[in-house]
Amino acid sequence: MAESERRQYGRIEVEAYPEYAIAAFSAECLRRPTTTPKELEELLGNAIAERAREGYGRLSTPILTSTSDEALIALFGQLGFTPRCCGFVFECDLVRARQVEVRAQPLLPAGIEARDLGGLPSDAVSDAFAQCFPGEDAQATVGLLLGSGSFLPWASSCATAGDRVVAFTMVSARTSAEAYLWYQGTVPEWRRRGVGRYLVRRTIEALHKRGFTWLVADQVTAGNDGEIRLLTTCGFRHVADQVRLSRNLGQK
Ligand SMILES: CC(C)(COP(=O)(O)OP(=O)(O)OC[C@H]1O[C@@H](n2cnc3c(N)ncnc32)[C@H](O)[C@@H]1OP(=O)(O)O)[C@@H](O)C(=O)NCCC(=O)NCCS
Repeated sequence: MAESERRQYGRIEVEAYPEYAIAAFSAECLRRPTTTPKELEELLGNAIAERAREGYGRLSTPILTSTSDEALIALFGQLGFTPRCCGFVFECDLVRARQVEVRAQPLLPAGIEARDLGGLPSDAVSDAFAQCFPGEDAQATVGLLLGSGSFLPWASSCATAGDRVVAFTMVSARTSAEAYLWYQGTVPEWRRRGVGRYLVRRTIEALHKRGFTWLVADQVTAGNDGEIRLLTTCGFRHVADQVRLSRNLGQK
């Protein structure tokens, strides 16, 4: 991801990516039930004019969720912004999911062991992460997640072959009842052997034991058939779409 730069326009913060000539709003300042199209147009006016002068081609919203941001999506639509689906939100009712489990207890392939991710050296996790998400800065992302206060080391799982991490789930708490699945991955040579599903089931068990009732995964990409199949067979349901709306600058 290119370096970004932030600027404030009244209560709207715009994050700009000079390399891509794209600017995006921060969502929090927009999520107000009272915002009218007129108010929003006024708020956006300066940002649009200034960014257009600087040569930005498009202005985008942050990622919005079809269920919780319905009003905001409609409002941007009225201002000439067009939506593009960029992912799905999946939710798992942990009580129900454990009943699905009875039917299909997954097994790990020989030579693979599962354990909690907590306590493992960050480098071992980063190596696996880098193979699963080649475009991302593995060390920085893993370091940030493992060090964050909401990270749940006992619910995040990993599979090892000897001392090598070959798969993982990374989970944090949103509330005392709701957990969030940040990332999950299986390194390419161990894929499609049930390891990913085993770890998600293990994570579901651990969360349920500690009284969590929901596990949420969002930004699940439309074409990620493996992840979608994995989640739905573990009891997750598709509950919303995520969209980004954008508008050409200079165009009314
Ligand atoms: C998505 C991912 C985690 C799946 O891990 P995995 O260990 O291969 O998953 P499993 O072997 O447990 O597969 C579970 C189910 O999904 C299916 N599946 C897995 N990969 C698939 C693919 N590429 N296309 C279609 N189905 C797939 C399996 O066939 C299995 O279903 P089945 O038992 O009905 O046949 C793995 O492909 C991966 O790491 N991808 C890159 C990172 C990523 O996209 N992570 C998810 C977003 S955070």
